[in-house]
Amino acid sequence: MVHADASNFPRGVLKTEAYAQVIEQASALFDGQRNWVCNLANSASLIWHALHSMPEPSNHANWAGNSIEGLTRVLEGFYVLDPTTPKQLILGPFMGKVACQTIKFGRGVCGKAAETAETQVIEDVHSFPDHIACDGDSRSEIVVPIRVGGKVVAVIDVDSTVPKAFDEEDKKALESLAEILGTSCDW
Ligand code: SME
Repeated sequence: MVHADASNFPRGVLKTEAYAQVIEQASALFDGQRNWVCNLANSASLIWHALHSMPEPSNHANWAGNSIEGLTRVLEGFYVLDPTTPKQLILGPFMGKVACQTIKFGRGVCGKAAETAETQVIEDVHSFPDHIACDGDSRSEIVVPIRVGGKVVAVIDVDSTVPKAFDEEDKKALESLAEILGTSCDW
């Protein structure tokens, strides 16, 4: 049975353990549920709580909103294919402050990930010329495409208020989650 405890991560949990819990809980939540809105919404919650429980600098991830203790700011969520406009992403489930509604393929970090179907790890968004600054406080970002049959159907987007917040471990873990989401939802 689905329970809110799935989002409980021990404070200061190691990144490896936190991501392992995200993958385990996501897989359990997707069992018997293939609706993408539902599964992305629960995934946004899992990632937000995981990131905010990790030590520095991961806990500064920034699209998932202000942390409970006011320490960190994280923005984290999903963009999906816009059914009304070809080659365009539209905002999906997320945690945090309001964000850009649509992004063209090829524009910004999200659009680059969607166009190339490759993960983008941006150590300093100020050095990425086409970065779309939905939140001026963002300093680094990771965007991971969700692919189905080689076609991008959505992206995972996580922003941080500190530079170089994301590394190879974030990339691998979020790519694993993207793979599970690709096969677990009806897109
Ligand atoms: N920074 C992103 C835009 C989306 S927000 O971060 C939510 C980009 O450059 O694509």
